[in-house]
Amino acid sequence: MPGDGGDGSTWAILVAAGSGERLGADRPKAFVALGGRVLLAESLERLDSSAWIDAVVVAVPADWEEAAIVLAEELVASKVSAVVTGGATRAESVRSALDEIPDDALVVIVHDAARPLVDDAVIERVIAPLAEGYDGVVPGLALADTVKRVEGGVVAASFKKKMVALAIVVGFPLLWFSTRWYLRYAPDGYLRERATYAVMNGVVTETVDRGSLVTVQTPQAFAATSLRAAYRGTDPIEASDCASLVEARGGRIRVVEGDLRLLKVTTAADLALVESWL
Ligand code: CTP
Ligand code: MG
Repeated sequence: MPGDGGDGSTWAILVAAGSGERLGADRPKAFVALGGRVLLAESLERLDSSAWIDAVVVAVPADWEEAAIVLAEELVASKVSAVVTGGATRAESVRSALDEIPDDALVVIVHDAARPLVDDAVIERVIAPLAEGYDGVVPGLALADTVKRVEGGVVAASFKKKMVALAIVVGFPLLWFSTRWYLRYAPDGYLRERATYAVMNGVVTETVDRGSLVTVQTPQAFAATSLRAAYRGTDPIEASDCASLVEARGGRIRVVEGDLRLLKVTTAADLALVESWL
């Protein structure tokens, strides 16, 4: 089986170079506090200690490279082979990390640092089917809610952003502070904050059969040659996950069972939820 550890054939890319705009902290999301250390520590330690992974490349924002190297040293994360400066998009960050991976790597696993609670069970689930010839394997979750297609709908500009813009225009800082406070501490704050990014206006045109739909997470595992081929070419590249670039070239992607605890930390409420699961 490819990448069953020890032969240097399975590499992990940990993408941590995002700014964390929606979290709204005073530093990049990977470096906010989670359980008494930085968020990046959780996934880095877990990937480093996985028997399935031989080496790790971490992508961080510019000027945070040193902090990541120090963190790896503190964690004694001895599989960390390189810390690279990420790009303007997630895909660009993946590509920068991919450049550090040697040609003889067989398997590359890509994981979002924003999903701290990665474990060996899901790593094994995504690696195993590669032996059957798939180009990539992704963890997926079935949808619980009814799904509808909406026309004329746009993702509503966030309530928070609107209020911040209004505060700037009106020149009324109190409005900005009270909005922040309301969104964070009001009853149902969690739902309120999530709704900020999920609201869609428009008219329903269809109820979609959700039976064949999944939401996908990371870690995503790939045959190294397939992933490299997907990232070769046009500049700059945009894609919210790696698998979509492999699919675009006709690659075969298998879905395996995901994990609810792989929740991506997007808002402050997500951070609190993940912290409660530590
Ligand atoms: N990521 C990255 N480089 C980027 C953008 C994102 O490495 N230019 C990483 C993030 O660090 C994160 C993962 O991709 O681990 C998923 O991205 P997301 O959750 O969107 O994080 P951010 O882009 O940081 O958050 P936001 O979109 O709210 O700014
Ligand atoms: Mg982002």
